[in-house]
Amino acid sequence: KTSDFQHMIDAHALAANFYSHLLLNTVEGEKALYYLEQRGFSRELIEKYGIGWSLDDREVLTQLLQRKKFEMKEMERAGLCVMKNDGTGYFDRFRGRIMFPLHDDNGNVVGFSGRILSESKEEAKYLNSPETPIFEKSHLLYNFHHARLNVRKSGKVILFEGFMDTIAAEKVGIMNSVAVMGTSLSDTHLTKLKRIANQLIICCDGDDAGWEAAKRFALLSAQKGLNAQIALLPGKMDPDEYISVNGGEAFTEKVLGNPHSYMSFIMAYYKRSKNLSHENDVLQYIHEVIEELAPKVSPVERDLMIRQLSTETGVSSSALNEQLIKKV
Ligand code: UTP
Ligand code: MN
Ligand code: MN
Ligand code: MN
Ligand code: MN
Repeated sequence: KTSDFQHMIDAHALAANFYSHLLLNTVEGEKALYYLEQRGFSRELIEKYGIGWSLDDREVLTQLLQRKKFEMKEMERAGLCVMKNDGTGYFDRFRGRIMFPLHDDNGNVVGFSGRILSESKEEAKYLNSPETPIFEKSHLLYNFHHARLNVRKSGKVILFEGFMDTIAAEKVGIMNSVAVMGTSLSDTHLTKLKRIANQLIICCDGDDAGWEAAKRFALLSAQKGLNAQIALLPGKMDPDEYISVNGGEAFTEKVLGNPHSYMSFIMAYYKRSKNLSHENDVLQYIHEVIEELAPKVSPVERDLMIRQLSTETGVSSSALNEQLIKKV
């Protein structure tokens, strides 16, 4: 069934061209183009990433695919079309969204993520292609095909949780970043990264979900034996927002240039929600950090950890050591 594979890839290439044309050359695409310009997308960047626009119309892509003799059942399996409830035909899955093509490692478009123009409670901000024979979320890393060579050269890869962050990074000349599609990082992702990089910088959003994601990513990377550090953003910003406010240089120097080890990240993670002038918070903080790190750190790191905990909380190193001995 190699040819079915190829049909799906051909259909995605056609769809990507169509969406791109609608964005760049039509009146219907103007609002989306304006939105992208507001977010700092140059024409060059839009073209480099193949970004497009899907019309509000329910059937334009479906009709185009039919004219080009694609089989509708197959287009449904490929995630581009959806069958009508009454079974009388098909309509477009993506409508009224800015279309970001998702590429496989060879640069073929194998899916899309579509962003709505204005966020609302009714609709998801991003609609992604479903899992299909050519697109598996747990395999695909956004920008992998662009970044691969640069990653190999520097040995270093930056991992974001959103593909908008990868695009923002490329805007300021950071060419070795990838993003997961959503917030889960799979073993396949890690295998891919480990094959081309010996150093991983995890850079998630500064909101609560981002901190949780960073913690999961860091743990999974450590389990995989990948040397990972975690870059943190001030406030609740995400990398894209940080770059647009503070610029690429600040991002490179202050955020990426100052990454935390797993240990120091975990301490920051638990400190985040605490007020260390409250005794309860101090006790809780020490408990959480020791619980989490004691089994994982080297003797030298353990020493550093104790010293930092002592400085932060005013509890003596000997008391902390005693507490820790019980957990190792
Ligand atoms: P974010 O909510 O952080 O998106 O989700 P973002 O990258 O900052 O996007 P903008 O700046 O608001 O446009 C991070 C990732 O989670 C997935 C997407 O892959 C996104 O890149 N996601 C998010 C979805 O799949 N669906 C959603 O509704 C939201
Ligand atoms: Mn076929
Ligand atoms: Mn986020
Ligand atoms: Mn974000
Ligand atoms: Mn964002």
